Amino acid sequence: MTKQELLERIKGKLIISCQALETEPLYDPERTLMDRMALAAKEAGSPMIRTCGVRDILAIKEKTGLPVIGLIKIQYEGFDRYITPTAKEVEELRKAGAEVIAIDCTDQKRGDGSRIEDFMREMREKYPDQIFMADISTFEEGVRAEKLGFDLVSTTMSGYTPQSAQSAGPDYEIVRRLSETLSIPVIGEGKVHAPEEASFMLRQGAYAVVVGGAITRPLEIAARFQKAVTQKRASVEEILEKMILAAEGNQHDIEHFLKVHAYARTIGMLEGLDQETRFILETAAVIHDIAVPFCRARYGSADGMLQEKESEPLVRDFLKGTGLSEDETERIIYLVCHHHTIDPVAGIDHRILLEADFLVNAVEGHYQEEQIRHAKERVFRTKTGLTLLEALFQ
Ligand SMILES: [Fe+2]
Repeated sequence: MTKQELLERIKGKLIISCQALETEPLYDPERTLMDRMALAAKEAGSPMIRTCGVRDILAIKEKTGLPVIGLIKIQYEGFDRYITPTAKEVEELRKAGAEVIAIDCTDQKRGDGSRIEDFMREMREKYPDQIFMADISTFEEGVRAEKLGFDLVSTTMSGYTPQSAQSAGPDYEIVRRLSETLSIPVIGEGKVHAPEEASFMLRQGAYAVVVGGAITRPLEIAARFQKAVTQKRASVEEILEKMILAAEGNQHDIEHFLKVHAYARTIGMLEGLDQETRFILETAAVIHDIAVPFCRARYGSADGMLQEKESEPLVRDFLKGTGLSEDETERIIYLVCHHHTIDPVAGIDHRILLEADFLVNAVEGHYQEEQIRHAKERVFRTKTGLTLLEALFQ
């Protein structure tokens, strides 16, 4: 299969990664189980399989006939890199027939003192026709990978090296930036847990998307279910219902937080927030004005500063029995208690809450052009928030 054929085959597609390390339940020293996993992936439409180790590559190719992205995970003394770190693994992967060979191209220590630049020059000279994929963790590493002659870049390592962005969800930002900058295909990979996240990766410009654990690691999948049923956390919709009931028929207040929630959710989704951050943001958006009735009764005013001062015990009390963790509760309290604070803005969830609340307040309060312009400069930073502001106030 030529490089062109392979690239055409995977364009816009979901590639499934099937891997079981020795420490995992689906690893069997006697025989691989990953060929079965790969068969399921093939039947679901995966045009290619990403997999680890010579034994699994051979078995998967035989069982499915699909091309593979092969890698070997091995930890050498003094090497931080563990994905195909030396020429020995490259040689083994070639012998196993891996159509694409994935190599760690991050800024991490190479124990033999060699530089990735020299290593890749040597590999390119030795194997001019081999398709190499760079597993990277930062934008700069991706740019360097193209210069080093890699054929593809994959964002696999984002969040797994100290120098990269740490997030519970996929790093869409790096995918977007690299796709705009590089001329070689950028594969979106890493921490994709849900179908809509995979699809969002492609809409950020990824040439193809790779999903592994969320599909082929039963332990990971089961643990996620276990966590959910153990925590028994209320959904955003349940919290919304509770908040509507608590508003005691004040239709203006209810409509207000419904709208703020809708904007916050929209911006959060389109900015690619991970599921957990979205949950926190949406919950905070629903209850952000929880102190308004209290402040009206006590001070005859719902001034922002008064709300921020009075919100904490009210949020704490409201969230009792909803199954939210302590961390989640504390973060929501922080957001509600800072939803009129524009400096500093502590995190993307805080930013989006400010933007969403402003959009609604500006319409409800018939804000003047000057106020809109001021907020555009001081408050709005997300691409989606700015787009919505401009659309509303043309
Ligand atoms: Fe509000």
